[in-house]
Amino acid sequence: MSTAKLSLNGQDYEFPTFTGSEGEVGIDIAKLRPESKAITFDPGYGNTGSCKSAITFINGEKGILRHRGYAIEDLANKSTFSEVSYLVIHGELPTPEQLSAFEAGIAEHSTLPAAISDMITRFPKTAHPMSVLSSMTAALPAVYDDYINEDSVDTNVMRMLGHVLAIATEFHKHTEGEAAVPFDSNLDYPGNFLNGMFGSADGGYTVNPIRQSALNKLLIVHADHEQNCSTSTVRMIGSGHASLFTSITGGISALWGPLHGGANQAVIEMLHDIQEDGGDSEKYMEMAKDKESGFRLMGFGHRVYKNFDPRATILKEACDEVLEDLGVSDPTLALAKNLERIALEDEYFVKRNLYPNVDFYSGIIYRAMGIPVDMFTVLFAIGRMPGWIAHWLEMREDGGRIHRPRQIYTGATHREFPR
Ligand code: ACO
Repeated sequence: MSTAKLSLNGQDYEFPTFTGSEGEVGIDIAKLRPESKAITFDPGYGNTGSCKSAITFINGEKGILRHRGYAIEDLANKSTFSEVSYLVIHGELPTPEQLSAFEAGIAEHSTLPAAISDMITRFPKTAHPMSVLSSMTAALPAVYDDYINEDSVDTNVMRMLGHVLAIATEFHKHTEGEAAVPFDSNLDYPGNFLNGMFGSADGGYTVNPIRQSALNKLLIVHADHEQNCSTSTVRMIGSGHASLFTSITGGISALWGPLHGGANQAVIEMLHDIQEDGGDSEKYMEMAKDKESGFRLMGFGHRVYKNFDPRATILKEACDEVLEDLGVSDPTLALAKNLERIALEDEYFVKRNLYPNVDFYSGIIYRAMGIPVDMFTVLFAIGRMPGWIAHWLEMREDGGRIHRPRQIYTGATHREFPR
């Protein structure tokens, strides 16, 4: 086993290293503070591994994303969201019997407890659905008294998957002044989302297969993404042994920020603003480079991907197909492509490895499908659900200490109280 050496104030310290299955090297500094009284300083955690995980592998330099060893391109093009959810959560692709049982479990838990459905109807119709989603998942321990029981974990996983879809669609129906649409076991997960949004409690709505297949792809590309802001939040909360529902509520809240999952809504709003302002791409690219302007090119850049985001590549292709298949002509697609073209040639963006991320094209597809803009991040949350669940389960199985980073204090030293 190789070791890493650190010299501090004339003293040498040695730390064990370990290697992951894809050759990534970690330096185990657990003994650093006890032995040297010093800590590492890594704001934004860009160089800090918080756990070992067997769920998702990302190589940001090469643009690789794999779940449980399977390439995202294969999963997006050849699989279903239910199958990928099972894979991410349980570690292996399901047999046909396991998949049927999994889908039946989602269907079984697709009906919300009456108290939750009732609360959904009490929100203002103008409420942001991300606020409604996190409020309702936060309320689940109030209605399930087995929320923390060890032997209810499997049931709570299925409740989570079934309920988030129902919370999102029931709230949308509430905003339209319409009754909730019951889950239809003849439809898959994306089909039920579309039926719940655009169908009617009386039936008579046929899910468009192009929309259904596009949504399947969109949900799959969001299924997991290792230790991002929201997943780390789920693990952080779960490390204190909070319930699955409570930990995931924190993940939903973290996802909402415009630098994270909220970027899909922010991209569309940005494209709309640029268009309203005359569609001058060059002007906005200059603003994005000027730190004083306060403007960032939303949907661009990523902490880990420094070549391309493979999810964005999948969605860029899907975007062209979906718009063509649905016969939708969207001028924002041309604007988005123009911004991308300029950025890929511009020294500022090239030097900083800023490429379109998953959120750059997803919003254009959602919009072509008729999904309201403030539901975009909710769809990200629904897609990310298997990842959050898998990380919560993995952390629980691995055991480990409560997450508790340290700090370097920079405030006032001791002073006498004035009275
Ligand atoms: N537009 C303009 N400049 C940018 C952008 C952008 N979108 N993103 C990064 N930069 C610049 C920074 O100003 C910085 O420049 P500097 O070196 O001259 O100071 C450099 O690129 C590095 O950027 P950081 O902010 O340090 O990168 P970080 O890894 O911390 O942030 C993030 C990544 C948050 C994604 C950032 O690129 C960003 O704000 N992008 C826009 C929001 C977005 O699309 N978020 C979705 C991310 S994907 C996801 O969460 C699903």
